[in-house]
Parts: sequence; C-alpha cells; structure tokens
Amino acid sequence: MRKILAKVMNSFFFTATLGFCLVSVQGFSASPSAKTGAGLYNTKGANSCLFCHGITGEGGNVKDAADLSQPKTWKAWAALGGDAAFAKDKKAFLAALKKASVDLLITGAIRHNASYKEAGFDWSKTKKYNAQMMGLTGTASAAWLKKYKEKGVTPEIAAESIWLHLATLDKQGVLSE
Ligand code: HEC
Repeated sequence: MRKILAKVMNSFFFTATLGFCLVSVQGFSASPSAKTGAGLYNTKGANSCLFCHGITGEGGNVKDAADLSQPKTWKAWAALGGDAAFAKDKKAFLAALKKASVDLLITGAIRHNASYKEAGFDWSKTKKYNAQMMGLTGTASAAWLKKYKEKGVTPEIAAESIWLHLATLDKQGVLSE
C-alpha cells in the first residue's frame, strides 16, 4: 500500500515538475505579468492593441484611439473623479481604475458601455466609449487568447497582464504609484 502511495506521489511530483519546466522553458506563467502583457499588446495583425494604439501607446493607426501614455486623459480617469479623487486616495483610485479598465479590455466598448455599473464610476462625468475600442475582442487578441487558453491564461489574467504593461507606457507616472 505504502509502495503504491509512494509511486503515486512520485509520479505526481514528476508530472508537476515536468509541467513547471515546460512552462518555464516557454518563459510563460499563468499568472499576470508585464511580460505576458507586452507579448499580447504587441501582437501583430488586425485590430491588436499595437495596431490601433501604437507601440508606445500613441500614434497608432486609429486616430481616435486614446493616448495610452497619458492615463489622466482616459475616460475612466474622469468617471472615477479625476485628479481630485486620485490625490485623495491613490490606492483606492488605482484599484478602481484597474477594475474598470480590465472590464473594458475584456468586454470591449459596446458591452462595457451597456453593462459597467460600479459604485464610484460615474458615467455622467464622461461620455460612452467609442465602439472602435475593441480591447481583447479584436481579431489578433482573440486569436492570442485562444492559443494561450490551454496554458491556463484566462481573459482576466490576460487583461491584468496588459494592465502591468500599460504601467510601462505611462509617461505621467501615475499607474505604478
Ligand atoms: C480597433 C482599434 C482598437 C483596438 C484593437 C484597441 N483599442 Fe483601445 N481604444 C481605441 C479607441 C478608439 C479608444 C478611445 C475610446 C474612447 O475614448 O471612447 C481606446 C481607448 C483605450 C483605453 C482608454 C480607456 C479610457 O478609460 O479612456 C485603453 C486603456 C485602451 N484603449 C487599451 C487598449 C488595449 C490594451 C488594447 C488591446 C487589448 C486595445 N485598447 C485595443 C481603439 C482600439
């Protein structure tokens, strides 16, 4: 009985270690990371973040696209109370900004406009999002998500990874406070 148990445990650890190695070899982890976010953001192809927003977060192919290097110009920044709210409680403000942005990324503008209702997010302080903001629903990002799904990357992990990458594009230095 003990022998069998030992065998089972051994094979369990072997599988776990092998799985870990495979994941490490690919330089990939199924928890949010800026590296994963950068890979996803910079995916080439139709309607990727890169396509619309540009590699530095500005100057992409879509002229109405938000400037990702200037978070203070974002609609969510205004809806959450802007600079005053940020100055008052940076931690809470950034948590709310992350939550709203992650939802926008996962659902895209049309669904987000219709369904995002969080205390503290005041739509009357801004306009609805331009439907061109597809977030992760754009073709290239959707293909990336499909590919990494089997590696355990959920849309939430993907969007939180993007959030970490956005902090590296931020020229106002507010996202990493
Ligand atoms: C088809 C073009 C397109 C794609 C693809 C796209 N965006 Fe956007 N994005 C836009 C446009 C246009 C806006 C401006 C929306 C507005 O202000 O109404 C925007 C706005 C934003 C904002 C500002 C949100 C705010 O609160 O104002 C962020 C952050 C953002 N995009 C990140 C991303 C990321 C990250 C990706 C990739 C997962 C992405 N976008 C994919 C066009 C796009």
